[in-house]
This record gives sequence, structure tokens and C-alpha cells, in this order.
Amino acid sequence: MTDQQSADLIEFLRKQRQARTFTDQPVSEDQIDAIIEVARWTGSAKNIQPWTLVIVTDPARKQGLAEAGQYTGFLANAPLVIVPVMEGEVPGLHGYDEGRLSERIFLAAEALGLGAGVAWFGAESAQQTARELLDVPAGKSVFSAIGIGHPSPATTKQERRPNPRKPVSELVRRETFGAGR
Ligand SMILES: Cc1cc2nc3c(=O)[nH]c(=O)nc-3n(C[C@H](O)[C@H](O)[C@H](O)COP(=O)(O)O)c2cc1C
Repeated sequence: MTDQQSADLIEFLRKQRQARTFTDQPVSEDQIDAIIEVARWTGSAKNIQPWTLVIVTDPARKQGLAEAGQYTGFLANAPLVIVPVMEGEVPGLHGYDEGRLSERIFLAAEALGLGAGVAWFGAESAQQTARELLDVPAGKSVFSAIGIGHPSPATTKQERRPNPRKPVSELVRRETFGAGR
């Protein structure tokens, strides 16, 4: 990889942001396959791969998921929703795995020129609604869903919004927690 390719890739990774508004254009089956192939190779604790991905494009089902949680509304207008169904009934160790899986899905979507955003169901009642909508059996959990689509101009504008992060001086310590950078 050339220095320029590395710099471009680092910039690509740095710029990934939450997308919440999408055009009506569907996500193609080839794009879905590419995203799933990247997700499939996500590492997990002991390589357990404690997940199943439910692909949702049915408008009524997406609407149901959108209405389930307090901050899940944007799922209704995402052409594609991918729901990680996790093994077990408490997040525990698998919570880390779910985060890794989701981030890979975001990055694969972005690499295809799409936008992606996570929605968190939160309350147990919202999780239960999502489980029922997706016919998820006992012993498995639904904590989040990922909306994916072609980003609308509103999303592009939102991506340009600063939405600041901690400065490096606050984020990083060298060698010990007590030391400065
Ligand atoms: C675990 C987790 C849960 C989130 N839940 C929601 C959510 O329910 N609804 C939503 O619109 N955004 C949700 N977000 C997105 C965050 O609000 C977003 O990543 C953060 O504000 C940074 O925004 P930016 O990507 O535009 O910089 C969630 C993010 C994470 C990591």
C-alpha cells in the first residue's frame, strides 16, 4: 500500500458517521451480499460468532421496528435494516462482539457509497417488540438494528456538522493513566 493509499484509508475510517436519512433508492442484492461477507468475517470471543443477521426490507416490519424504541424512528425510512440477533439473554461478553460486528457493517456500507446508522432498542419492552416482529425464539436477544441506504442530502449535511469529539489531549495518556500525553 502506498503512503497515499494509507492516508486515504485512514481518512475514510475517520470520517465514518451515523447516517439517519436516506433516499428511496433500494440497496441492491449485490450490495447486501458484500456487506454480509464483511460482517461474516468479524472476529468474536473464542470465535463463537454469537449472532444471526436478520435482513429486513418489508415497510411494515421496518415501521414496527422504528416505533419500538425511543430513538429508533429513523429505521422507518432506511431501505435496508440489518438486525443482529445475539445469542443469550444478557449482553455480557457478546456485547463487545455485537459492537465489532456493527462497526464492520457500517464500514462495508460506507465503502459501497452507502450510509449506515445504529438504533438502540433500550428498554426491555422495546427489545421484546423487536423480537416479536422478527419472530426471534427464546434464548436470543435483539438490542440494536442498523439502518442502511443511499444517504440523502440531509445526511451529507449532517456529516459535515462538527459534532465534536474529545481532543487527543483528553483522550490519550502515555504509559500510565496519571501521566499526560
Ligand atoms: C451503542 C450506540 C447506540 C446508539 N443508539 C442510537 C439510537 O438509538 N438512535 C440514533 O439515532 N443514534 C444512535 N447512536 C448513534 C450516536 O448517537 C452517534 O454515533 C454519535 O452521536 C456520534 O454521531 P456522529 O456519528 O454523527 O458523529 C448510537 C450509537 C451507539 C454507539
